[in-house]
Amino acid sequence: MRHSENCAETASGNRSEAAFLRERKVVPGGSMRAASWFQPHPPYAAKGEGCWVIDVDGRRLLDCANNFFSLIHGHAFEPVLEAVRGAMSKGTAFGMPTESEILLAEALAERSPRLEQTRFCNSGTEAVLAAIKGARGLTGREKIAKFEGCYHGAYDWIEVSLDPTPANWNDEAGNPASVRCNAGTPDSVLRETVVLPYDDPQRCADILLREGPSLAAVIVDPHASRAGAVPMSRETAAVVQQACRKHGIVLIADEVISFRLSFEGASPLFGLEPDLVTTAKIIGGGLPIGAVSGSRDRMSVFDHSAGKPIVSMGGTFSANPLSMAAGLASLTHYSRAAVERLNTLGDRLRQRVRAGFASSGAEASITGMGSLFRLHVGRHEVTGYRSAYANADTAKLIRRVQLAMLDENILLTPNCSGALSTPMTETEVDLIADKLVGVVSKGIGENSAPG
Ligand SMILES: Cc1ncc(COP(=O)(O)O)c(C=O)c1O
Repeated sequence: MRHSENCAETASGNRSEAAFLRERKVVPGGSMRAASWFQPHPPYAAKGEGCWVIDVDGRRLLDCANNFFSLIHGHAFEPVLEAVRGAMSKGTAFGMPTESEILLAEALAERSPRLEQTRFCNSGTEAVLAAIKGARGLTGREKIAKFEGCYHGAYDWIEVSLDPTPANWNDEAGNPASVRCNAGTPDSVLRETVVLPYDDPQRCADILLREGPSLAAVIVDPHASRAGAVPMSRETAAVVQQACRKHGIVLIADEVISFRLSFEGASPLFGLEPDLVTTAKIIGGGLPIGAVSGSRDRMSVFDHSAGKPIVSMGGTFSANPLSMAAGLASLTHYSRAAVERLNTLGDRLRQRVRAGFASSGAEASITGMGSLFRLHVGRHEVTGYRSAYANADTAKLIRRVQLAMLDENILLTPNCSGALSTPMTETEVDLIADKLVGVVSKGIGENSAPG
């Protein structure tokens, strides 16, 4: 098959399967991202229209994955396309600054004084790494603290204790252990990363009292998707805030996903006053982006104008004009009214699902806030990573729900979480809720598979 040819169908007539078989030969695992892969193979996207994605087999899926919650306006949103077309016609990247980067940085600053100054990069991972580097530069300390089970991107320190299990998640004192996520992560990285419990403020306070003086940063996502998609308690947020003030620790709010929760972002909803804020996803309008923001004082750590900065931050495609233009169009249309409308739809979804589960007696629950949601199997209350932890049996059930939802033409992420986008209305939201209740309540079919 020549590289210009489309993937043919297999004997089963399935073009996604053919694409997967072909990709597997040149890409380990047959897919670029573990997060969007599932057995036997994911559907391959052909195009998107608003809140719908059409796969290469022509199936229309109601998209709650939205490229991992980055497409706040869904697919092919005309104002974004128009902005990108306009920018692209002038060239795609320059070894010079462009005015477009000023406009996006100003748009962020207008949303919140916490975002007074910004540096752009190309992903949330990069933004978090730069913020940690900045915190180390500001404090001269090496250790960081993060919450158990929370995802902040793919790199050594921030992947510590991303996915610990009951067999290894406690240290000898009963505190969360620093657990290696990847083979080969150096022991020094584990020693430099203190792990905090998401839902135990007293233990969190004790750990921060002990470790505080040696910490450069505490990184917190107050609505951590991987740790259960439950809002962090105000008590825990206050413990973190106070410890950071007391010990001179840089508080980094990772709002890569949670920025969408309010016009100003997530921190104000939790009483957090971070020193640095990392954002990505929706601020790029569907193009690659990441950003570190903060007060002029804190952001001076990256200031190169007087010579060598305290820490460097930059990259070939940082603040590229296409991402800047797309991001500006995206943020402009995510107005206060749009945020409120989407959050109200999210409340409607969760209420409808809860009512449905209650009347059917389904052993499941839904968590989330604003336009974000996640399904959990079982009747226990989910408050953080450990109560959200899926053992092998639960993981199997969650997978079956995801595949059964796919059979209903609704795309969730593999752990059954989802996000709403602005093209959705009550009709789509009720459809998602009713299908989820139906799939979970009727029992989860053994034979569901992506079609
Ligand atoms: C809270 C959080 N931080 C950081 C990241 C990394 O962002 P990216 O995938 O753009 O590198 C993610 C990605 O999902 C995230 O959810």
